[in-house]
Amino acid sequence: MLSLIFENPQLNLNAIITLLLIAIITFVFIKLFSDDKPIEFTVPVPIEAKPGWVDGKILEKLNIKDPQNPGYITCYDPATGQLLSNIRAHTEQDVINSLKKVRNAQKKWALTTFAERRKVLKSLLNFIVKNQDEICWVSCRDTGKSLVDAKFGEILATCERIQWIIKKGEKALSPQYHESSMLLLYKIAKVMFEPLGVVAALVSWNYPFHNLIGPIISALFAGNGIIIKSSEQVAWSLQYYSEIIKVCLISCGHDPDIVQFLCGFPECGEALVKSGVDGLTFIGSPQVGKQIMSSSSTTLTPCILELGGKDCAILRQDVNLNQVIPIILRGVFQNSGQNCVGLERILVHESIYDEFVKIVEQKIKELRVGCALNDEEGVDVGALTMSDHLDRLSNLIKSTVSQGAKLLYGGYPFIHPLYPTAHYYTPTLLIDVTPEMPISKTEHFAPIMVVMKFRTDDEAIEIANASGYGLGNSVFTRDQRRGEWMVRRLRCGMVNVNDFGATYLCNLPFGGVGISGFGRFGGIEGLRQQCLMKSITLDRFPWLLQTSLPKILNYPISFGGSTFVSNLIKVVYENRLIDKLKGGIKLVIGESYKYE
Ligand SMILES: *[C@@H]1O[C@H](CO)[C@@H](O)[C@H](O)[C@H]1NC(C)=O
Repeated sequence: MLSLIFENPQLNLNAIITLLLIAIITFVFIKLFSDDKPIEFTVPVPIEAKPGWVDGKILEKLNIKDPQNPGYITCYDPATGQLLSNIRAHTEQDVINSLKKVRNAQKKWALTTFAERRKVLKSLLNFIVKNQDEICWVSCRDTGKSLVDAKFGEILATCERIQWIIKKGEKALSPQYHESSMLLLYKIAKVMFEPLGVVAALVSWNYPFHNLIGPIISALFAGNGIIIKSSEQVAWSLQYYSEIIKVCLISCGHDPDIVQFLCGFPECGEALVKSGVDGLTFIGSPQVGKQIMSSSSTTLTPCILELGGKDCAILRQDVNLNQVIPIILRGVFQNSGQNCVGLERILVHESIYDEFVKIVEQKIKELRVGCALNDEEGVDVGALTMSDHLDRLSNLIKSTVSQGAKLLYGGYPFIHPLYPTAHYYTPTLLIDVTPEMPISKTEHFAPIMVVMKFRTDDEAIEIANASGYGLGNSVFTRDQRRGEWMVRRLRCGMVNVNDFGATYLCNLPFGGVGISGFGRFGGIEGLRQQCLMKSITLDRFPWLLQTSLPKILNYPISFGGSTFVSNLIKVVYENRLIDKLKGGIKLVIGESYKYE
């Protein structure tokens, strides 16, 4: 047949076309009948999230706690002050009930295949891409952030993580084979990544959608159930976001109890940490992180702590300011500065310092502050999510200025003309800041650019290392080798050369050192931390060779047992070949030792 094809050019062409057609038809059939497609589902968006919604009662005093109504969370839009709803705060009893439900559901979930889990993630990803605007509106309404900040932080970052798990998750969690030791060459040695059981995550309010979805997708893909406690600051958006997950799971034919959502005051978090879950992730401040670690020690629950940072951008003398400054501005003002990996300190070489300050001062003055959903004009910087930040910030800036820093712009709350009770902070520029000043050591989490001057690379590293935090850093330079030299000297968990936040979008593990916490999420390493890492050996040739201890080592140990082990050690670990051989010969002839 083959020779026929090659001999006859006409037949040759026909054969190729036929084969191609068969291949295409087969491919289409596989696609059509494979179970690989996302399931479509819908979730109604709350009316309050619609841009231009102004029906909410504007609150006089903005506080999520109402003394008249204890046990409830007052949810409001921080960019307008409009009341959104009052939601019951979850209590210790809710934690107990949730744990019971999820424990039960996890038994079945642990048996699902990676393909089934991928289908859930694909359906979720499909929903997110199709409903980006709605998800962002809900986030903007609950946190006050701008739309671009929501698109980046809530949607883009989330889609990337889901896509990565869909594509690479199974490989990351497949058994890893290792070389067995010289002594046990007849063994297979491998590590398996099994579900931990039920994990919990206590997440922060700065990205209510992304921070919620991240732990859920990792947990589910690893075969775990999860209880996720959202911050009480974003209780309102949790209702819509949790519905998305529940409907997605139900649409894919799974028990929605596998994910449990909680939202309550610190008592609820404390109860969850002590509940006896099998693993814990906490995103928040170092102070609360210490309490979490101490509470989780009662049950010895392993924890991953992500406790914020005081990230630096180091601008060496060789940078192109026009190219770098837009990146710096985004790193500082993204999400009104409320980012774990936001740029909190800008270290600028003395030779470009004045020019840098001149350009950013102009840019910062032009930033438009406002409510993304209700203001007609565009908004660059949204509101601050927490009401008690305003006084804290003004005090922090005051004490920093009293120690010699210069306040070039801002330094006070911004009063919105239509919504005077809403909480905004004017974008602020503080220069000539030094490492001893209070703002160099505390995470400010606000739209403030802190500029510091340095003379040598060593000095820049010293300043960067000195905050106690160690999450991320950025080095800007056109000298790639110098950039890598600096990367090695920075004490932190992540560094980007000539960029900001890129490690995150490259699915590298996320986490820090020092008071930034420990443990990782994201990427291969993060996904594996959601698993029970189980080490296993098996016989390589079970039909041929199995371990049997030499007689001389059987109990009761006979004369020469210890010498036998000595000689064995020599064979394997002696440095020189001749010594190895000597040991080998003694082993074979069975040398005895008189003092034994
Ligand atoms: C910064 O920290 C790193 C990592 O701990 C260390 O190797 C380096 O020597 C430190 N450098 C300075 C100048 O503090």
